[in-house]
Amino acid sequence: MGMKWVGVGSVYLLVVGLIVGGLRLCNGGISSSYARRSNDISADMPLNSDVFAVPHGYNAPQQVHITQGDQEGKAVIVSWVTPDEPGSNEVVYWAANSELKKRSMGTVVTYKYYNYSSGYIHHCTIKNLQYDTKYFYEIGIGNTTRQFWFTTPPEVGPDVPYTFGLIGDLGQTFDSNRTLTHYELNPAKGQAVLFVGDLSYADAYPLHDNNRWDSWGRFVERSVAYQPWIWSAGNHEIDFLPDYGETEPFKPYVHRYFVPYKASKSTSPLWYSIKRASAYIIVMSSYSAYGMYTPQYKWLISELPKVNRSETPWLIVVMHCPLYSSYVHHYMEGETMRVMYEQYFVKYKVDVVLSGHVHAYERTGRVSNIAYNIENGLCTPSNDGSAPVYITIGDGGNQEGLLYEMVEPQPKYSAYREPSFGHAEMNNRRT
Ligand SMILES: *[C@@H]1O[C@H](CO)[C@@H](O)[C@H](O)[C@H]1NC(C)=O
Ligand SMILES: *[C@@H]1O[C@H](CO)[C@@H](O)[C@H](O)[C@H]1NC(C)=O
Ligand SMILES: *[C@@H]1O[C@H](CO)[C@@H](O)[C@H](O)[C@H]1NC(C)=O
Ligand SMILES: *[C@@H]1O[C@H](CO)[C@@H](O)[C@H](O)[C@H]1NC(C)=O
Ligand SMILES: [Fe+2]
Repeated sequence: MGMKWVGVGSVYLLVVGLIVGGLRLCNGGISSSYARRSNDISADMPLNSDVFAVPHGYNAPQQVHITQGDQEGKAVIVSWVTPDEPGSNEVVYWAANSELKKRSMGTVVTYKYYNYSSGYIHHCTIKNLQYDTKYFYEIGIGNTTRQFWFTTPPEVGPDVPYTFGLIGDLGQTFDSNRTLTHYELNPAKGQAVLFVGDLSYADAYPLHDNNRWDSWGRFVERSVAYQPWIWSAGNHEIDFLPDYGETEPFKPYVHRYFVPYKASKSTSPLWYSIKRASAYIIVMSSYSAYGMYTPQYKWLISELPKVNRSETPWLIVVMHCPLYSSYVHHYMEGETMRVMYEQYFVKYKVDVVLSGHVHAYERTGRVSNIAYNIENGLCTPSNDGSAPVYITIGDGGNQEGLLYEMVEPQPKYSAYREPSFGHAEMNNRRT
């Protein structure tokens, strides 16, 4: 898979695609010769697998996960589920170099999905943390207290080195487990994950069996309890099941995954922004209204001019459905979003747009296709130094398998493509 410098000005962003089972330098401009094996469709791990084990003890907190809790990185949202009764909403936390224990009180929510009733889903925002500091935290009561830790990011600023992991379309197959293990063991040491959507694939089960949302939460806990995953919603989060009365899109997702959307003046958890180190990250929703005058449009249009490139030179957009993808499956699904938003991404010089959805890897050059006005015939993507690079990294390892069928010949806008399971690391460190 690919390794390539992408950058503007004096700072460079290294995008390293890492595959389970090996790392290869890319052959710029040429598709991989990777050939799909016939058994590439990966099965979900059975519910009695080690990765889904329920922690011991009555009402023990499970599915622990953290994400950024404000816009600057000085707050963390801690979320967890207690299965039997509400228990405590409190998080006890302390800096690793201090004895002083602090407490923060959260809230608890539940939801029903057809005949499934969720456990007690706790969300607690801990605030006023010091930058670049290791904290321990504890949740639960008595002998089922569980302890974890995280490290806060460095203070936001232009020259702050940071490494993001990129994971998408993860699911809960044996391959998902290999991807997560590879991410954890990777010497590049991702400090936070930008998750490009499609989490559990619970909707692949009859009645969207929400127990598979719980099992997924237990599976990824070993990473996301210790470093924030920055969430974006994919089509597998919609959970729309009208024949069974489930007509509220994203219901399981928004109850389980709280994000700091109010901090960026968003009115929906499905689109928001954060700053982390030298990056300004804008999360969008491919499956919420985004046309003119919609809440998402109005928010984005007021958001983009706020980005101060002297403070955060890196402007990253995350959305599930890619705007440029030259795989046959899902071909042009992002086209309406492209028509709507590409002009702004060019105007505000977005560096990179990260997407999933297509279960494969692809990287474009800096291209845009914004000259078209219905009658001038100018509708071919062309090189554009102000345009983002588009990266598709929807190959976490879910049960739908890989996509290998590509549009041939490889379009000029496509710099590299390869279907294989894995994740990526993205950083601004000089090597
Ligand atoms: C929900 O309904 C399905 C189909 O009728 C059934 O198989 C399942 O056992 C039910 N689950 C619960 C928790 O009642
Ligand atoms: C843990 O606490 C529960 C409830 O108070 C109690 O029933 C159980 O015996 C305790 N277990 C241990 C190992 O102390
Ligand atoms: C998942 O990966 C972990 C770490 O490599 C391993 O210990 C565990 O046995 C794996 N579980 C399954 C079900 O593959
Ligand atoms: C932009 O960020 C720089 C560096 O942090 C700061 O000095 C400057 O005041 C900021 N500009 C605005 C308009 O906030
Ligand atoms: Fe998807």
